[in-house]
Amino acid sequence: MRFIFIVVLAVLVRATIARVSTSNVVDVTWKPVRRNTPQKQCRDACPGTWTALSAAEWVKVANPGWNVGNTLDAVPDEGSWNAPKLQEATLDDVKKAGFKAIRLPVTYTDHFTSSSPDWIIDSAWLQRVSDVVDMATSRGLHVLTNMHHDSWGWADTSQPNANITMIQEKFYRSWLQIGKKLACKSSMVAFEPLNEPAGSSEADAANLMKLNEIFLQALTDSGGFNSKRVVTLSGLGMSSTNSYAPMFVRPKHIPNPWAFQYHYYSPYDFDFQAWGKTIWGSEADKAAVVSDLSAVRGNFTDIPIIMGEYSASQLNCEAAARWKWYDHVVRTATSLDIGSFLWDNGLDNLQREAGIWRDQIAVDIIMSTVKGQTNSLADSTTDPNALKQETSAYIFHRVGEDVVDTSLPFLLNGNTFASLTIGGTALKAGEDYSISGSNLTFHQSFLEQYISPAATPGSKTNITINFSSGAPSQVEIIQWDLPTLAQYNASASVVPSGSDLLIPIVWKGLHQVAAVKITDSDGKYLFDDWTMWLPELQKGRGTKGSQWSFDFDHLTITSSALQTVEASGKTATFMFEFYPRAVGHGNYLNFTVTP
Ligand SMILES: *[C@@H]1O[C@H](CO)[C@@H](O)[C@H](O)[C@H]1NC(C)=O
Ligand SMILES: *[C@@H]1O[C@H](CO)[C@@H](O)[C@H](O)[C@H]1NC(C)=O
Ligand SMILES: *[C@@H]1O[C@H](CO)[C@@H](O)[C@H](O)[C@H]1NC(C)=O
Ligand SMILES: *[C@@H]1O[C@H](CO)[C@@H](O)[C@H](O)[C@H]1NC(C)=O
Ligand SMILES: *[C@@H]1O[C@H](CO)[C@@H](O)[C@H](O)[C@H]1NC(C)=O
Ligand SMILES: *[C@@H]1O[C@H](CO)[C@@H](O)[C@H](O)[C@H]1NC(C)=O
Ligand SMILES: *[C@@H]1O[C@H](CO)[C@@H](O)[C@H](O)[C@H]1NC(C)=O
Repeated sequence: MRFIFIVVLAVLVRATIARVSTSNVVDVTWKPVRRNTPQKQCRDACPGTWTALSAAEWVKVANPGWNVGNTLDAVPDEGSWNAPKLQEATLDDVKKAGFKAIRLPVTYTDHFTSSSPDWIIDSAWLQRVSDVVDMATSRGLHVLTNMHHDSWGWADTSQPNANITMIQEKFYRSWLQIGKKLACKSSMVAFEPLNEPAGSSEADAANLMKLNEIFLQALTDSGGFNSKRVVTLSGLGMSSTNSYAPMFVRPKHIPNPWAFQYHYYSPYDFDFQAWGKTIWGSEADKAAVVSDLSAVRGNFTDIPIIMGEYSASQLNCEAAARWKWYDHVVRTATSLDIGSFLWDNGLDNLQREAGIWRDQIAVDIIMSTVKGQTNSLADSTTDPNALKQETSAYIFHRVGEDVVDTSLPFLLNGNTFASLTIGGTALKAGEDYSISGSNLTFHQSFLEQYISPAATPGSKTNITINFSSGAPSQVEIIQWDLPTLAQYNASASVVPSGSDLLIPIVWKGLHQVAAVKITDSDGKYLFDDWTMWLPELQKGRGTKGSQWSFDFDHLTITSSALQTVEASGKTATFMFEFYPRAVGHGNYLNFTVTP
């Protein structure tokens, strides 16, 4: 996925970046070559009055927000990627879920109709952006809109031989046109110059600071209400790590009310299924979040802050660990007065056509946390050295095994159990389940309505658990067996070069790969051999997207992984692990790749 690619880049960059000393301001010498006169006419002509909103007020009323991901930011056009064109009903669903704002990422790259010096943006595209902004504000949703994947292409000042003059000219012209088009939108609408700007050097940072200046200048020049409008500004990569914070230098003159924006996908290995890190929630994991978010707050004590993107996708992360992550990240952000915008690529959160949240519990956790409520959470293994990952988000029952009473621990956090329901029908305390402290025990007789040694594998039912306060939780009952594959071996040399190997799969349990261990015929790790230093459930595991992936119908081995096998000259074993995860528990399949 394109989006993941950029985050990987950002992380690599983050890891290599050197601390730089800071001066307080950047001296911006750039001036627009063809300075248009400020749009006095438009300023006067804006219908309606301007309701002044400080950046702090905007951040407060826009929290929590939701990203219209992979939509108007798709390349080359809206609808080109997985997500459909944005429909009005989607915004109704977003509002109904409790979100107060959208971040509207827009890629302009393929919508220019002329080149230097005018860089005209297709008027139909500007109209579409304007219409979507209205679609949101007319529902009471605030909007933060930007230039998005332009940062990968023409607006990447870090490319070798980048024509900085051209980038600055085009950036000014772009924001002048976007600014004019949106000049009279209300104070609910805020602007952000450029998503995750590329680069890592001090020179890249200086170039970005100039783009920030140019953006502010273009807004002033575009007239209307734009010089009073809230904007967000960011450093390279929109990173949160402290090493980046000094790379942001406040422009000398910021006419607009402004907030600082950064993105949070951390820890990377948990968020993006790298190196087998499916366990999250230890004291060290939690402390890292507090440290990351506090560092940003510490750098901007006087400036409102938003996390413009954050997510632990249900495509990548185990449910109980994910719910803990959302609870802790949003709780920490809230305590530091940091607003948050959930990233949604259209595949992981809202199923837009159906209007169904794929992980309603995560949404409920975000909403209750923002309101300051305490959530009870499904407990799960937090010790990274554990040999088994326990989770109270599921009852996993293997085909062939007897059904027994099953106890699940919860983190009540001061709440009590209020009700257990399936599709609105209450379970009977004492009969179906019993409560012992923070444990729920589901009785064998109740479980036998769904699972048995011979039941067909799959998801059997979902139990909703309400607590005396905060978000509900869910227990999904799953009968499982090993999935079956159409083939268990392949020769790398027969897969066309550049193609991934797609292995048809019949799932028999949770439709999710937990991790993949990749070894050669000598037992050596084929990728990232440093993972030998990691805990047992992480050793030798590769990274989703880099070496392997999966979808509803397939397991995937990537073309680059196949190339590595071919180059090694040795047979490799790809050990695909599923949930429940445990050393020696047998819930994996080996796929052999010969060179
Ligand atoms: C750089 O861009 C400017 C402005 O578009 C243009 O005039 C100049 O020729 C470009 N330089 C190169 C080396 O392409
Ligand atoms: C950001 O905060 C850290 C401490 O958390 C400090 O070391 C650093 O100098 C700060 N940077 C800026 C630019 O304020
Ligand atoms: C809860 O269950 C765990 C096992 O999952 C057990 O060790 C613990 O004693 C139980 N606590 C209570 C109060 O029943
Ligand atoms: C239980 O909920 C999950 C989503 O959390 C869903 O994928 C699954 O299909 C549901 N199971 C049943 C039996 O409805
Ligand atoms: C459980 O909580 C949800 C809201 O979080 C609510 O809609 C539902 O009615 C509650 N169920 C019961 C049985 O109280
Ligand atoms: C895969 O395994 C089958 C059965 O063991 C064998 O006949 C076949 O030659 C193997 N194919 C490859 C590409 O290794
Ligand atoms: C699967 O591969 C792993 C890793 O190479 C190995 O430890 C295990 O014994 C293999 N299992 C089977 C059934 O071949």
